Amino acid sequence: MALAARIGPALSSHVPQKKIFVKTYGCQMNVYDSERMIDVMAPEGYVEAASPEEADIVVLNTCHIREKAAEKVYSELGRLRELKAEKAARGEKLVVGVAGCVAQAEGEEMRRRAPVVDIIVGPQNYHHLPDLVARSGNGGPAIVETEFPTEDKFESLPAPDRRKTLARGPTAFLTIQEGCDKFCTFCVVPYTRGSEFSRPVSRILDEARGLADAGVREITLLGQNVNAYHGENAKGRPATLGALLRALADIDGIERLRYTTSHPRDMDEELISAHAQVEKLMPYLHLPVQSGSDRILDLMNRQHTAETYIEIIARIRAARPDIALSSDFIVGFPGETEADFEATLDLIREVKFVQAYSFKYSPRPGTPASTRGEQIAEEVKTERLHRLQALLSEQSEAFNASCAGKVMPVLFDRRGRAPGQLLGRSPYLQPVHIDAGPDDLLGRIAPVIIEQGFANSLRGRLAESEKVIA
Ligand code: SAH
Ligand code: SF4
Ligand code: F3S
Repeated sequence: MALAARIGPALSSHVPQKKIFVKTYGCQMNVYDSERMIDVMAPEGYVEAASPEEADIVVLNTCHIREKAAEKVYSELGRLRELKAEKAARGEKLVVGVAGCVAQAEGEEMRRRAPVVDIIVGPQNYHHLPDLVARSGNGGPAIVETEFPTEDKFESLPAPDRRKTLARGPTAFLTIQEGCDKFCTFCVVPYTRGSEFSRPVSRILDEARGLADAGVREITLLGQNVNAYHGENAKGRPATLGALLRALADIDGIERLRYTTSHPRDMDEELISAHAQVEKLMPYLHLPVQSGSDRILDLMNRQHTAETYIEIIARIRAARPDIALSSDFIVGFPGETEADFEATLDLIREVKFVQAYSFKYSPRPGTPASTRGEQIAEEVKTERLHRLQALLSEQSEAFNASCAGKVMPVLFDRRGRAPGQLLGRSPYLQPVHIDAGPDDLLGRIAPVIIEQGFANSLRGRLAESEKVIA
């Protein structure tokens, strides 16, 4: 009998556990990867720490998309250098790891610039974390692992831990596709994540069934270019995202499906018809357009025009008239004129978005656009961003206000700050709160009468019947 079992739970709970803290920057794919890093360290005896102070390992899972995102990492490393020194003074060890897209992009350079780092591991290598941790911490230079291995990272990762999935609540991310072959001229992703790779259908279904068993009701499928998905099906042929969504919709317990992020070029007919036919597929689509000017779209190598984008939206709306649309925009791309920018505002007025993310163009090392002439002055970018965001906010506020009086199924996923308050999401991904509701609604979908729409959220009350839908 194992010692821990003989001495009983009271004593064995005093056995000190090793702890890992992962701080996540960037996109949802990094959120998924961070969870998997914790899962991959669990068999080594590591549990999640609540703060870097109590951790034996701190991993920064980083984002390289814009300069600001990447710079944050170095200020955090400055803090970790102090923490490492404090711990060393107490005779304790701290392993510092940098994962994600900055690790991939900077590798050796980071090793020189930030000697506090022990491990530099790219997004396609973090399944080797246990081995890297075992090899690290002898005071030598950082171990750098940033190859794009041909082996499948996903095959080496354990299934998501059931207990942790339960604790994370009824919504989960599931990465089905990695990397990007599109090479938009502003973007680092093809360089940091590598070329497109799709996981086989069977693996995704297995992971989704595991999530459903652990109480997950809503799955968001992730990929840098998720609708370029072409994973192998049971017949050994490439499956489309539309086909995958239909298969996932058959899993009992999964009530809602979403996917992000899509490229307009890959919105094929099968995916559009899934929006009409798959009831569990939520009426919300994030479809980045970046600009409304054909000249800029061409310089960006987006492979679509404003008109083709608008046509795609019309087809999606024909399939699912209540679809809520979201997008990404970049202002101040090199060479963007006032007329180009106005064309973006026109596109926004025509399409109408319920939600959007907008950014000032940030030149990224190694990308073609960064070395173009005609870089736009910072104050021009700032001014355009303000105008763009004012229009987008108007549209999202109008949409939220238009929801008042409607009954919406809400998936409740957490408690609010006030006693009795519960928070959840509408089918259109709006945050919804109710001031009073039974605790057992958490993890379930119930109809809510929307009373008021705010800038970024909705308030409502449980519908009379209080009938739980799922
Ligand atoms: N794969 C997705 C998203 C990639 S990154 C897509 O194809 O749309 C998320 C968003 O960051 C992009 O849509 C873009 O709007 C923004 N972005 C990417 N590179 C940028 C840069 N160099 N400067 C400013 N914003 C950028
Ligand atoms: Fe970047 Fe373009 Fe690929 Fe999106 S499609 S990840 S913006 S290169
Ligand atoms: Fe950032 Fe990498 Fe995601 S650059 S947006 S973390 S793919």
